[in-house]
Amino acid sequence: MSTHIVDAAFAEPTHLPCVAILGAGSMGRAILTGLLAPNVTVADGIRVTNRSAERATDFDGEPRVTSWVTSLDADANRAAVRGARIVILAVKPAHIVELAADISSGLEPDSIVVSVAAGVTCASIEAALNRDIAVIRAMPNTPAAIGQGMTGLAAGRFAGATHLEAVSHVFATVGDVLVVTEERLDALTTISGSGPAYVFYMIEQLEAAAIDLGFSPEEAALLVRSTFSGASNYAAHSEMSPRELRRAVTSPNGTTERAIAAFDDAHFPQAFRDATKAALARARELAEGKS
Ligand SMILES: NC(=O)c1ccc[n+]([C@@H]2O[C@H](COP(=O)([O-])OP(=O)(O)OC[C@H]3O[C@@H](n4cnc5c(N)ncnc54)[C@H](OP(=O)(O)O)[C@@H]3O)[C@@H](O)[C@H]2O)c1
Repeated sequence: MSTHIVDAAFAEPTHLPCVAILGAGSMGRAILTGLLAPNVTVADGIRVTNRSAERATDFDGEPRVTSWVTSLDADANRAAVRGARIVILAVKPAHIVELAADISSGLEPDSIVVSVAAGVTCASIEAALNRDIAVIRAMPNTPAAIGQGMTGLAAGRFAGATHLEAVSHVFATVGDVLVVTEERLDALTTISGSGPAYVFYMIEQLEAAAIDLGFSPEEAALLVRSTFSGASNYAAHSEMSPRELRRAVTSPNGTTERAIAAFDDAHFPQAFRDATKAALARARELAEGKS
């Protein structure tokens, strides 16, 4: 069962408990952008950690963020989690378990540990923590960087509805949130986690086709990106289904109909199923420790 908890455009005031982001790289910073939005307040500020000092200077002059560097302070991650209610682990998947073991002694008893790492189970994080701490896995995607992400959440054995709700409010600052069971998180990853790459791939291909038709790269980029953004916003806001919207631009015996027939001849519908199945099979290989 899945629950659609929170919609994007969370413009009303949001008050969050103290949040720590361990590993403020690409994904950590995308989440941070949401926490720094004008309508969001975070009690006792936001804590971030990184390995190298260069990254940490980026937060100079931001009074809401306290930053630590692990290469300068071996206690950095433990210091950052002390007093934090929501602790987001955003390092590479290979380092998650080691990080969880490192911070365990510093965590508050009522804290929630959230891992955004692909393929690392709640059970392995719970084992590393070796305490009855609520663990939640999150699978955000890169449009979170512009507040239009889609995040899947799955609870571990010590996490309940209140923990999920608290973490939903954090990810709602960067887009939409869907709660699923952990066994469905890999399937969700093949749709919304990898999904932006499928869309970028289609944009690339349509731009290449436009250039073949004689448009300059700049013209092709304008035509294609505007069309993708307009069509996806239209689909998101229209009462009509994507099929009905497609039919509305497909006159019988017209040009679009020929184009759609060419997609069908190229087995486009099957290609989407094959691609997501291949991604799911790979997620299972990774979970079994295959490189
Ligand atoms: N990017 C995505 O599209 C995406 C989507 C969904 C989920 N994720 C997940 O997000 C996680 C991070 O990915 P990313 O793309 O954001 O990687 P990234 O840009 O390399 O960020 C990782 C960050 O972790 C820091 N770090 C490394 N070891 C640390 C430690 N022991 N303590 C504190 N900080 C440490 C690194 O600092 P230094 O740079 O100073 O070493 C870096 O800032 C991964 O687990 C990935 O599966 C990413």
